[in-house]
Amino acid sequence: MTGRLPPCIVDVGTGYTKLGFAGNHEPQMIIPSAVAIKETAKVGEQSQRRLCKGVEDLDFFIGDEAMDATGYAVKYPVRHGIVEDWDLMEKFMEQCIFKYLRAEPEDHYFLLTEPPLNTPENREYTAEIMFESFNVPGLYIAVQAVLSLAASWASRQATERSLTGTVIDSGDGVTHVIPVADGYVIGSCIKHIPIAGRDITYFVQSLLREREPNIPPQMSMETAKAVKERFSYICPDIAKEFNKYDSDPAKWIKKYDGKNPFANPDFTTPISEVVDNVIQNCPIDVRRPLYKNIVLSGGSTMFKDFDRRLQRDVKRIVDARLRITEQLSGGRIKVRQGSGVG
Ligand SMILES: Nc1ncnc2c1ncn2[C@@H]1O[C@H](COP(=O)(O)OP(=O)(O)OP(=O)(O)O)[C@@H](O)[C@H]1O
Ligand SMILES: [Mg+2]
Repeated sequence: MTGRLPPCIVDVGTGYTKLGFAGNHEPQMIIPSAVAIKETAKVGEQSQRRLCKGVEDLDFFIGDEAMDATGYAVKYPVRHGIVEDWDLMEKFMEQCIFKYLRAEPEDHYFLLTEPPLNTPENREYTAEIMFESFNVPGLYIAVQAVLSLAASWASRQATERSLTGTVIDSGDGVTHVIPVADGYVIGSCIKHIPIAGRDITYFVQSLLREREPNIPPQMSMETAKAVKERFSYICPDIAKEFNKYDSDPAKWIKKYDGKNPFANPDFTTPISEVVDNVIQNCPIDVRRPLYKNIVLSGGSTMFKDFDRRLQRDVKRIVDARLRITEQLSGGRIKVRQGSGVG
């Protein structure tokens, strides 16, 4: 049987889990990485738990059903990209496999994903659950960033397909800049920023709370997310952008007057600078291919014009450095036109 059925692919992210089968172009399902479990009374919790363990074990929901369940506590097994609660994770995988993929785990190979710099212990736990609880015949745990590079082949000429590149993965809970050379992650040069989509949603939510007091509280998060995903975009220059709205507000039917751009005082380095720093830290012989192949991955890189702004800014930084090198060398070094940022 094994080998004939397609492998199952499960990518459990901080916010969303992407599920499907090998050979398809996109995930069959994208569900919130949430588990709803029954809230037990505080008093006598321990004994109660032991008594009804068998039943309680089955009494939980995942995904959208978890978000809708009343009388349950909604929990997330993954935080900032890393599994925090293995019991929850096992529950979550159980329903992913049986209820969502509707697969018999003994009949499929599994491809799971891990964040860059995942610990060996975490990888072993994952393998333990898959082999011992679910009896899978085979398992591969791939680094998300390497899969992103491979996925980018779909939009490339055959000659341009390489596993060398810089991956910017910005999801719901974490943003990573990851240099990859020939399929190997250059671990020492990874940059990790614990700000991602959910923080932007919270920010929009707080703006909405001030301006739209009529949104019911239980809808507030969903509304903020929808506003973010539909209407947000990346602009070339934030000051100019605000000016545009201020100088002629009538021209913009919906009045946007939030002036405080989303920011966290601990992480103020622009993503373009982070990318440049990461690549500059890498061995010199891979820097050019790393600049040449910058791949975006994760829902929070889907803002309109994210790519344009990033490309412009990285190019500016690189070109400025090249000019300085040229000057310092007193004209001995002539830099080739076009830094190759692509
Ligand atoms: N069109 C869009 N524009 C902007 N943001 C979007 C868009 N679509 C989805 N998102 C945001 O992307 C995030 C989810 O992305 P993704 O599924 O890559 O994250 P994840 O894998 O769950 O999290 P992580 O990789 O951080 O563990 C959410 O915050 C969602 O609001
Ligand atoms: Mg992810």
